This record gives sequence, C-alpha cells and structure tokens, in this order.
Amino acid sequence: MTGGWVVALLWNIYGLSKPQNTRDIFSAISDGNICKLLQSLLVDCIRTKFPDVEAVVGLESRGFLFSFSLASELGISCLSVRKKGKLPGDVISYEYDLEYGSDTLEIQKDKIRPGLKCLLVDDLIATGGSITAATKLLQTCGAEVLGCLVIIELKSLKGRENIPEGIPVHSLIQYE
Ligand code: PRP
Ligand code: MG
Repeated sequence: MTGGWVVALLWNIYGLSKPQNTRDIFSAISDGNICKLLQSLLVDCIRTKFPDVEAVVGLESRGFLFSFSLASELGISCLSVRKKGKLPGDVISYEYDLEYGSDTLEIQKDKIRPGLKCLLVDDLIATGGSITAATKLLQTCGAEVLGCLVIIELKSLKGRENIPEGIPVHSLIQYE
C-alpha cells in the first residue's frame, strides 16, 4: 500500500486534523489499525526507496516507536540515537548548537561500523535540527546515511532544506 493520501484520510478521521492535537503522533497511533497501516506504508517505502538498508536508526524518543517494529519486519539491525548519558558502555558523541546552548547525541560504539548503510527514522521533521545532528553523528562514525524517513513534515519550517546535501528525506504526510 502506498500514498500519503491514505494517511491523510485516516488521520482526518482519527484526530490529527483536530487543532488541539497539534500534529502529535500519539493522537494517531492510539488505534491499532492506524499503527498497522503506518507500519505497512513505512515498510513499503523502505523496500522501494532504500532496498540496501542494513540498519534502521531511531531518534530518541518518538523515533523508537517505529524503529523497533521496522527493523523487526525487515529483519535488519535496530540502532538507537539517544541524548547524552543515557546509553550504557562506550559511546560516540556528537555535540551540536541549539538556539540557546547545545545538545549532544550518542550512539553505542559497538553497534555501529564504517560503511554500515543506515536509515534514520523519526516521527516528525520540523526545523530538521534533530535529523541533521543524527546524520552527522552517524557520518562521524563512518556509517553511510542512505536517508531519513518521517511520518509528518511541517513544511513551513523548511527542515528539509537544512538536512546535509545528498541525504534524501521522505515524509508520509506534509502539513503547511
Ligand atoms: C520532536 C520530534 C522530532 C523533533 C523534530 O522531538 O519527535 O524528533 O522534535 O524537530 P526538529 O526537526 O526541529 O529537530 P523532541 O525533541 O520534542 O523529543 P521527543 O521525541 O523525545 O518527544
Ligand atoms: Mg523526537
């Protein structure tokens, strides 16, 4: 099954169109049928656009809602990028600037290797800051970032324009 319009239609029914839900993923995934549909759309997208992917990389925390099940269905590695100090063992870190201050993302050193073909997964792209930082972390490790996949894109924030060149961004549904 393909087509963002399917998601748009169902999400209009299940709640994302309601202003109080502010494009929040949890408003949509409270229904098991929507979860199943989303999983199917995401798997189709990955099989079509990223057939060589070796690892799905979820971004803390809402990206984890999808990385586990996608890696499970595709039979590939499931890696997790977390905020500083949360992962056990040796980690590789990437510090990046925020509007006020900075933040650090980390990944477990023994889970990543140079050349590993990775796909970043998150619920939403807004400014693109999170995906950009995660991309740079993976590239610091020598991994190959094939692209990123999100459910929702907030187009007015132009996040896709901030992603490093050559990294394709796929979103299932776009809002202005
Ligand atoms: C939200 C969302 C994305 C990110 C998108 O995460 O889940 O990860 O913001 O924004 P950006 O494109 O401007 O970086 P948040 O930082 O709120 O944390 P959470 O996933 O733990 O809720
Ligand atoms: Mg997040």
